[in-house]
Amino acid sequence: MSLRIALAGKGGTGKTTLSALLCRSLLAHDIRPILAVDADPNSCLADKIGLNVERTIGSVREELRAKPDAKPAGISKNEWIERQINESLVEATGLDLLAMGRQEGPDCYCFINNLLREYLGRISRDYKAVVIDNEAGMEHLSRRTDGHVDVMLVVCPPTVIGARTALRIVELVKSLNLAIGGCYLVLNQCEGPVSPELAAQFAQTGLEQLAAIPVDPVVAEFDVRGQSVNDLPVNSPAVVAVDGLVLRILERSKK
Ligand SMILES: Nc1ncnc2c1ncn2[C@@H]1O[C@H](COP(=O)(O)OP(=O)(O)OP(=O)(O)O)[C@@H](O)[C@H]1O
Ligand SMILES: [Mg+2]
Repeated sequence: MSLRIALAGKGGTGKTTLSALLCRSLLAHDIRPILAVDADPNSCLADKIGLNVERTIGSVREELRAKPDAKPAGISKNEWIERQINESLVEATGLDLLAMGRQEGPDCYCFINNLLREYLGRISRDYKAVVIDNEAGMEHLSRRTDGHVDVMLVVCPPTVIGARTALRIVELVKSLNLAIGGCYLVLNQCEGPVSPELAAQFAQTGLEQLAAIPVDPVVAEFDVRGQSVNDLPVNSPAVVAVDGLVLRILERSKK
């Protein structure tokens, strides 16, 4: 069975950076193959992993809408769409990446969304881990196309607003009755220990904190240069902290 990890949080909290670092660290722990799912329409997970995306699920949808007759004779519509999705997979050593692209559109995409959910559920079994980088905000939680999740990481800055957002995400997750194994807190861009007052606010979420990732100037520099996190030194503070996070995720998922 694959370990499905999803990241959620407000814009700019570091979901994509941490998704890429998680992939790197999972591979370093010999958890492979991995499927990285870029569920953010303004995708940049591929860049952070050092891959190039040519086609997204969104573009498959658009092609289907624009040219409904493009399907060759002799195969079913489902088979044809699956083939297109398959061709959108970017393959690298130990890791494949699927970019969802734009979700919105003038028509109802229920058909293809259902197919995608089924497809993801099925291909997920071929991977040791699936890492899903979600778009900012919380709307995606209610129109989830990625099915069951074992570990949901709520990524927040160590601020009062971060604590409030974490609480709202927890409440939403509860109200939507989502199939989530465990929901955990990850503080990102920490500049030292949080104050007892702030810790008390985060404690109100009821979430176990799995990591406090420090501010890492080299991570920000790499981002500006469009360089992959794979090139960060092994002793870079964010890499070391995410290695620790992966160990804790693996411990929790054994229980
Ligand atoms: N631990 C860190 N140390 C230093 N900079 C960081 C750290 N984590 C993230 N950043 C920087 O913060 C910015 C936002 O990060 P990122 O794009 O990963 O956030 P995001 O949550 O995916 O954003 P969005 O919601 O827009 O998709 C980037 O410039 C990134 O380099
Ligand atoms: Mg992002």
